[in-house]
Amino acid sequence: MIKLSPRLTAIAGLIEPCSLFADVGCDHGYMSLYVLENWKANRVLCIDISLKCLEKTIKLLKKNQAEDQAIFYNCDGLKSIRQVPDEVLIAGMGGTEIINILEDYSRVRDLSTIETLIIQPMRDEYAVRRFLNANGFKIVVDHVIKDKKIYHLIKAKRGAQNLDEFHLMFGAVEASYFTKDYLLWLREYESKCQRILENANKILAVNKSVKGTLNLIQNQIKTVEERIC
Ligand SMILES: C[S@@+](CC[C@H](N)C(=O)[O-])C[C@H]1O[C@@H](n2cnc3c(N)ncnc32)[C@H](O)[C@@H]1O
Repeated sequence: MIKLSPRLTAIAGLIEPCSLFADVGCDHGYMSLYVLENWKANRVLCIDISLKCLEKTIKLLKKNQAEDQAIFYNCDGLKSIRQVPDEVLIAGMGGTEIINILEDYSRVRDLSTIETLIIQPMRDEYAVRRFLNANGFKIVVDHVIKDKKIYHLIKAKRGAQNLDEFHLMFGAVEASYFTKDYLLWLREYESKCQRILENANKILAVNKSVKGTLNLIQNQIKTVEERIC
């Protein structure tokens, strides 16, 4: 059995049994192997835009005699795949890149063919939530975990949702707000806004908008601190 990092363990915990799992940006191959070793799917599409990265997955699956259940694609996102996955993992990429992959796929096939999406954006989680919200997905898990860095993990199921600005910004699932890692993220976000304010001290428009955001973050910090500290 492979040993996963805390970030990958948290992602693994979100994976549901399915027929065909797609690991987009499979790289080291740990998640593809996890899915097969744990009987989460009959088959896995291992996809990577970089041949060098895909070869790592191929090597790992061969070493573990799991390659017969995998289909390997050296391609950009889901554009060139011939099969229709019902569960898709896209982890370790920027939010905009993830959205591009899903938008490209929607030009080839209806996004509603995907039952479950597991996403771990490295940034731009707001844009990811907004995209899911506008494209027929309901966010069912939305939490923050600290490993080497702070990560957002989002799981969405096919379905409707109407998130307001607050939930797009702070997370779709309120029950996940009250953790130490979430508070760490809020404080990091607060510091980022403070730095922007320091550097843009004379630009009025920036000041106004960042001060508004900072105010929201500080209120959220207060709410979370009152519950967990
Ligand atoms: C930082 S690694 C993340 C690996 C793994 N998913 C994880 O979370 O640990 C990002 C991987 O995504 C691949 N990648 C980036 N853009 C891609 C795209 N448009 N389609 C497929 N793979 C992509 C990269 O080549 C790289 O292997």
